[in-house]
Amino acid sequence: MNIVIFGPPGAGKGTQSKYIVNNFKLYQLSTGDLLRSEIKNKTKIGLEISSIINSGELVSDKIVGDLIEKFVSNKTYRNKTIFDGYPRTITQAKNLDNLLKKYNQKIDIVLKLSVSLETVKKRILERQSQEKRSDDNELTAIKRFKTYEQSSQPVLDYYMQSNLLKVINGEATIPEINSEISALIEGIKGWL
Ligand code: AP5
Ligand code: MG
Repeated sequence: MNIVIFGPPGAGKGTQSKYIVNNFKLYQLSTGDLLRSEIKNKTKIGLEISSIINSGELVSDKIVGDLIEKFVSNKTYRNKTIFDGYPRTITQAKNLDNLLKKYNQKIDIVLKLSVSLETVKKRILERQSQEKRSDDNELTAIKRFKTYEQSSQPVLDYYMQSNLLKVINGEATIPEINSEISALIEGIKGWL
């Protein structure tokens, strides 16, 4: 079971990934978290990407691709991964397919959480005081949303063509979305 969770900033990707991790015994791979950890540890990559993240743009496909290969190649996570925030471009979507194939895996379902820009702004401003993410301010949130709008459609089309895409109303309450996601995962053939 490998799941992709997709959606704009503040859509609830991290929130729902944590729910899936706890209920379906999977591992969360958040490229945002991996990149923030590079910045925190002041690695070479971290120094290179911090201004990109703060401007709300995407880090290069090559940098995130290298980070995820370390995860996908690890036997512990094999067929037990929820990809949170990867892929975000069509290049990344194709890279993920190739990488999963290389390690005898595939994607079982793509969950897309849809939310409006108004909701994104509200949620990100609320989170700002709790988590202190450097990209959680109104201007960067709007930019992140625009970046999402510019790069997401080819990825959605790609997964629609392979019949993997499920669109979920991300404006619903957290428990409502939890239930919808559970039902979708339990409905996958071969699960359990
Ligand atoms: P990343 O860390 O992935 O950020 P993001 O995509 O902007 O999304 P967030 O983490 O802000 O939101 P989320 O959807 O996880 O929502 P959450 O559950 O936290 O990426 C950061 C940056 O890294 C990118 O901008 C880019 O620069 C770079 N990057 C990352 N991946 C990359 C890639 N693949 N390629 C290139 N660059 C990449 O929820 C948000 C808040 O809302 C929380 O407070 C939560 O409690 C609340 N909430 C959640 N659901 C609900 C609900 N249903 N109702 C009410 N409140 C809710
Ligand atoms: Mg997140």
